[in-house]
Amino acid sequence: MASWLENFFRSGTEALGLEVGTANLKVVDLHGPRLVLRGYAIRPTPPGVIQGGLITEPAALSEEIRALISEARTRKKHVVTTLSNDAVVTRILKFPKGMEEKEIGEAVRWEAEPHIPFSVDEITYDYAILGESEGESDDGEIEVLFAAAREETVVQLVEILRDAGLEPVAVDLKPFASARVLEPELAPREDGSLPLTVVLEVGAESSSIVFLKGERPLMTRHFPVAGNAFTTALARAFGLEIEQAEKIKREYALASATLEDEEALLSIDTVSDQPSPTDIYDALRHVLLDFTTEVQRSLDFFNNQFGEAAPDQAFIGGGGIKLAGLKNLIADAIGITFTEINPWNRLRVPNNRFPATKLADVAPEFVIPVGLAIRGVSGVD
Ligand SMILES: Nc1ncnc2c1ncn2[C@@H]1O[C@H](COP(=O)(O)OP(=O)(O)OP(=O)(O)O)[C@@H](O)[C@H]1O
Ligand SMILES: [Mg+2]
Repeated sequence: MASWLENFFRSGTEALGLEVGTANLKVVDLHGPRLVLRGYAIRPTPPGVIQGGLITEPAALSEEIRALISEARTRKKHVVTTLSNDAVVTRILKFPKGMEEKEIGEAVRWEAEPHIPFSVDEITYDYAILGESEGESDDGEIEVLFAAAREETVVQLVEILRDAGLEPVAVDLKPFASARVLEPELAPREDGSLPLTVVLEVGAESSSIVFLKGERPLMTRHFPVAGNAFTTALARAFGLEIEQAEKIKREYALASATLEDEEALLSIDTVSDQPSPTDIYDALRHVLLDFTTEVQRSLDFFNNQFGEAAPDQAFIGGGGIKLAGLKNLIADAIGITFTEINPWNRLRVPNNRFPATKLADVAPEFVIPVGLAIRGVSGVD
């Protein structure tokens, strides 16, 4: 897949994929165009270090990233990383057919200005010309993917990584990183047509969704309902600390109502101070509704703009999808069955070094880091 935003930074060196997530720090070390897995590591992000998408304790974060890299046992210093969904504004801009590339380059910043919630003087941005538009109502305009972030956000991340002994060579966007893992699935079909694909990534702080025709992104959107929202709802409902609520979520929560006779079978009823499955579901119900509403809204936006029927294929990743029953809930609410992405399947994995069960445990969490790592070795021997 083309690296849409390659001008944020450029490099020809083999780089690691690193995601500085709100819940987890994750790194993937790949080698060569055959994508051989050399190493990976995951460490929980210490609580409070990243709050509401903002890095509040840069020094502590650098330390943790250093520890993460040493766990992955790599000597590589270059990294492809990503910004939080909230930190980036992406838009597909349209320009009249026949406009020269150079003219587009000059106009793009000003065209984008009304879409950016901060001043154009304080942003760093990049764009990629996608080609003629695909929308039903459009008349063959040229579409340009534009992405901008506050310069200070990018500078802060770069400084944190440098303090950790790393050198960032590219900043990618999460929706595109997850799509890159699926490259083989995005290829033209036998009849030459391009599949319409939707990819949903559910992290801790936010979820993102991208619609693609072949490898070309048509629309991206993100919303602040993901793993943390489920945990926070449980903490509030039962007056628990976040850590306790997280534990309950992982062990007992279900994204669907439990039938009473099922409940009777669950051992947790024997623990008297434990909320029952019905109580847990009641506490989660409104966040689950927010979540499915946002997914549905994304599909509605897409359909309004592109007038397409249902996507040909739908994929899902991110640690947030581990909430038991979530995929079924989406299928019931939206009518689309999402297939779980296994990012390791995209790689050559030396089985003697990396036990399959360990990899499988963290497959959802590693969708984005693997996507970043693939970019880090793309076109490099
Ligand atoms: N077994 C589980 N059941 C439910 N949720 C889980 C489970 N395991 C992990 N999670 C959730 O997955 C989320 C972490 O996933 P992930 O590592 O993808 O997030 P992140 O990349 O750190 O977040 P973000 O990208 O939003 O900053 C957390 O919200 C966590 O509660
Ligand atoms: Mg994430």
